[in-house]
Amino acid sequence: MTTPTTWAGHTQGGEPFRRYMDRVPLAKPFWDEECERAAISALSSGRWVKGPEARMFGEEFAKWCGAVAAVPCQSGSAALWAAMRILDIGPGDEVIVPGMTFIATATSVSLVGATPIFADIEEEYWCICPDDVEAKITEKTKAVIGVHIFGQSFSPRLREICDKHGISLVEDAAQAHGASLNGTLAGAIGDIACFSFFPSKNMAVGGEGGMITTTREDLAQKLSRLVDHGRNDALESVELGTNLRMSEVSAAIGRIQLKHIDEWTAKRRGNAIDINHSTKIRPNSEHAWHQLCVLNDNPADLISRFDSAGIDARVHYPIPCNRHQVYSEHHQHEESLEICDKVAHKLVAIPVHPSISDIDIERINSVLNP
Ligand SMILES: Cc1ncc(COP(=O)(O)O)c(C=O)c1O
Repeated sequence: MTTPTTWAGHTQGGEPFRRYMDRVPLAKPFWDEECERAAISALSSGRWVKGPEARMFGEEFAKWCGAVAAVPCQSGSAALWAAMRILDIGPGDEVIVPGMTFIATATSVSLVGATPIFADIEEEYWCICPDDVEAKITEKTKAVIGVHIFGQSFSPRLREICDKHGISLVEDAAQAHGASLNGTLAGAIGDIACFSFFPSKNMAVGGEGGMITTTREDLAQKLSRLVDHGRNDALESVELGTNLRMSEVSAAIGRIQLKHIDEWTAKRRGNAIDINHSTKIRPNSEHAWHQLCVLNDNPADLISRFDSAGIDARVHYPIPCNRHQVYSEHHQHEESLEICDKVAHKLVAIPVHPSISDIDIERINSVLNP
């Protein structure tokens, strides 16, 4: 009999643990000895912040996704806030965001004093709807934040619309490491892109973490300034920033994870092929399968059937952003975004991560097709 392993890959024994292991989690953070060595080496260097690991992580990440520059930071939410600051977005400005996403997409806009304008999502792909974006552009609109939701690339029309109206396109790529659109990887599609390395994400850094990338030479310097109190080389604060820097230990772990991301994405894609679902993939794009969501009219029942089979599943995202209490004063709080309202509470995320086995996939399929 093989010895069971923990989530983190450490050997453990015992029946209670065995039972725990039999559950298939929705996400499973990865680390190995190389990550441990990298973390310890960063610690032993005595240089815990503002060192070579963060610099190299940024350079390697930019090269990997095809961006002009990339700067590690403390979280995906911090990256989104920084993106708003880098684009000089503030009071009086509007930024169009999808009605169905993680709330940080919208709150990053509110946190700089601007107004998020909620657009509906596409019925087929659940990303922000380009027609609704165009309908909601006003003279106050400064940017659109397109989210590659669950790892599905947003519509290529967003780029065209933003170019036509002279506004910026920000990618919320928190869930989209390795996703691509017309051959361009997430991170190199918009003016700025924001990634998250939260432990459940497609790659992680052993804690909180994020990355800001840009395709614009003129913004490259601003990226590194914003995460460091807006300071220039002479240590003068020339604009409003704060400390959003990533630690050296996290960056060292991130650099090792980056070496695995293509292989992990390929495994996610293979798993998504083997699982019986009907999610459509946008033409000329590659899905990163951060989440595999199935649309179900009775999500509570489906989740309970998964639970009985020892498989974790949950609804993403049950409440459209405009309907959250934080937006109770927002003029769109009661507005019905048709597709968001129709699907948000019915999308059930099921495991698709690289650590699931063929047997796990059989178990998942037997719940989906009893
Ligand atoms: C779409 C989206 N945007 C932003 C974030 C925020 O990232 P973080 O949790 O690293 O702040 C997340 C993370 O859950 C996300 O899924």
